[in-house]
Amino acid sequence: MCGPIALYDTTPADHDPVEHLLDLAFGSSRRGKTSYRLREANSPVPGLSLVTRDDGVGISGTISFWPLEIGDERSPALLLGPLAVHPDRQGLGIGLALMREGLARARAQGHGLVLLVGDEPYYARVGFAKLPDGLIGLPGPVDPRRFLYLELMPGALAGVCGLAQAPRSAALAVPHAAQDHKQRCEA
Ligand SMILES: CC(C)(COP(=O)(O)OP(=O)(O)OC[C@H]1O[C@@H](n2cnc3c(N)ncnc32)[C@H](O)[C@@H]1OP(=O)(O)O)[C@@H](O)C(=O)NCCC(=O)NCCS
Repeated sequence: MCGPIALYDTTPADHDPVEHLLDLAFGSSRRGKTSYRLREANSPVPGLSLVTRDDGVGISGTISFWPLEIGDERSPALLLGPLAVHPDRQGLGIGLALMREGLARARAQGHGLVLLVGDEPYYARVGFAKLPDGLIGLPGPVDPRRFLYLELMPGALAGVCGLAQAPRSAALAVPHAAQDHKQRCEA
């Protein structure tokens, strides 16, 4: 790809093409994934949803970030994703460009901690690393090798422990899982 990649704020009109792109990239079973539980009764953070466009495929890339609260302390964090690039446009730097801009905007908004479920070899390129086992729980199964974090502010992970949930549903949506993680935090 020649020149810098143009990134655009996602608009309401992008909703259906973005969903189509996500189905192309991840398959229609994607909604069964644990990370989707965190997007129910939740909304993407304004200003952090981006797309790339071109005349050939329309929306060629998409990224969004979602607010989370973790544990009894309701420590704030962001969930990165979904990040997807059209199969015909992969390997051109679009995914990294979307992430770098999204993370820079998140930092500028004052967010300190970002979580995601994804391939560590890819996300390590922008600084993500595997979370310590058992530190943060999710409302469903997750491969611990794919549960990653990035501190946008140094030390943002310190003291964060417990179940990650969408804001306002913490400790209510899955009380047994929350209790389980409370015990692990106290151990
Ligand atoms: C993963 C994805 C977002 C990457 O976007 P992209 O625009 O194709 O990636 P970029 O062009 O920014 O980066 C390409 C580089 O990342 C590497 N890469 C891409 N996906 C990777 C993965 N899952 N694991 C490790 N490395 C990966 C490529 O090999 C390439 O490496 P190179 O620079 O050494 O040649 C995109 O391929 C996609 O939507 N895939 C379908 C969904 C998916 O498989 N997600 C898995 C990640 S959670």
